[in-house]
Amino acid sequence: MTAPMASDALVFFGATGDLAYKKIFPALQAMARRGRLTFPVVGVAKSGWSRAQLVERARQSVTQHGGLDEAAFATLVDRLGYVDGDYADLATFRELKSKLDAAGARRPTHYLAIPPSMFPIVVQRLAEAGCQVDGRVVVEKPFGRDLASARALNETLHGVFPESAIYRIDHYLGKEAVQNILYFRFANSFLEPVWNRNHVDNVQITMAESFGVAGRGRFYEETGVIRDVIQNHLLQLVGFLAMEPPSSNASDAIRDEQAKVLRTVRPLDDAHMVRGQFRGYRDEPGVSPDSYMGTYAALKLWIDSWRWADVPFFVRAGKSLAMTCTEVVVEFKNPPQVVFKEPRFEQGNYVRFRLGPQVQIGIGARAKHPGERMTGRPIELSVVQQPTSDEMDAYERLLGDAMGGDATLFARYDTVEAAWGIVDPVIHGPSDLHTYEPASWGPVEADRLVTEVGGWNTPK
Ligand code: BG6
Repeated sequence: MTAPMASDALVFFGATGDLAYKKIFPALQAMARRGRLTFPVVGVAKSGWSRAQLVERARQSVTQHGGLDEAAFATLVDRLGYVDGDYADLATFRELKSKLDAAGARRPTHYLAIPPSMFPIVVQRLAEAGCQVDGRVVVEKPFGRDLASARALNETLHGVFPESAIYRIDHYLGKEAVQNILYFRFANSFLEPVWNRNHVDNVQITMAESFGVAGRGRFYEETGVIRDVIQNHLLQLVGFLAMEPPSSNASDAIRDEQAKVLRTVRPLDDAHMVRGQFRGYRDEPGVSPDSYMGTYAALKLWIDSWRWADVPFFVRAGKSLAMTCTEVVVEFKNPPQVVFKEPRFEQGNYVRFRLGPQVQIGIGARAKHPGERMTGRPIELSVVQQPTSDEMDAYERLLGDAMGGDATLFARYDTVEAAWGIVDPVIHGPSDLHTYEPASWGPVEADRLVTEVGGWNTPK
């Protein structure tokens, strides 16, 4: 197979929006700093702005997110073009096309940093103006609202771009710590013999955020925690933790295994889910006073595969919890016999991946308590990864990969649909909702899911 050609221009729709402000401009400045911003960049938006206003906005963006680097920013400004126009108006796309032609760009990447409801019209107009030829499209999550709408969205995109030209961003896949799960699993021989139902007792994934919906009440009312972070970020983690070894590091080899494992996760039902809403959520701007949207969910998943049969995977995520921390704990079974006469111990062996805010890997073991008696205590061998000054942010990494044509860290349509298939049965109907106090660990009702494994592994 020949390697895909690099794109020779980046177009981003939603240039005056929130995502561009928080993520895209800082990523572009970082690329410029590394000498990788070698292509023209065209922002598109409908705001009535001039290019100078967009440049000013970009300056504020990088100043607030990571800091202004005068030299790199000058490169960004030098490359930056702007088209102001309506997304429904073909004239906007004709102007874009003439800008691309003038820059000699023949293989543009179009980044749709806009609400999904705008995708159909934008991809249609791109095609009508001839901007899609040899081009790529990058789309942001959420990829649909449920299985049916995700399929419809994929059909819309496939109507104009082949799957190989569609890059679905799930920024978790671009995180250093998430990639390290994959690396750690398949670059260490000691793990593979025990990474299965014979030795693993349970797996827990916690994504806790100490802040609430932070001004995104309206968005959250449409989304809720399952659509916001579980269907995408956390199920991608389940995929990395549970997949079979890929046959190579080719992008499709990894994504094939990812898709296979998500297809074997049993679709959820209410008995395996507890939903919560933090007290005060209904008073947030943009939130309905009788909202039934979950800001917390805990799930118990089963993977019906040879490797994982009968091993529960617990996933929980929530806003306004006691701390901000994303952590995975893979807990192993206790030794088959008690050799040393000591009380049954609660903490045995485990592997712990802390994915944020710090990055850490810990291996939990037991060691003897110094003294006469043969009793032990839990210890942890752990490594904390200090961020390096030149570490790539997920967006810089993913934008660079999309421009270069490497799709490994992007969600493929079958993985996305498989992930929707898991949560689809529980996201439509009304299910119980428990109120929890802000700064707690969520509703106590969620404890019922984990009684058989002795409770939640709560991050410390
Ligand atoms: C986003 C969600 O995708 O991920 C947010 O929309 C969430 O609600 C965020 O806070 C978490 O990302 P990170 O990188 O801060 O863990």
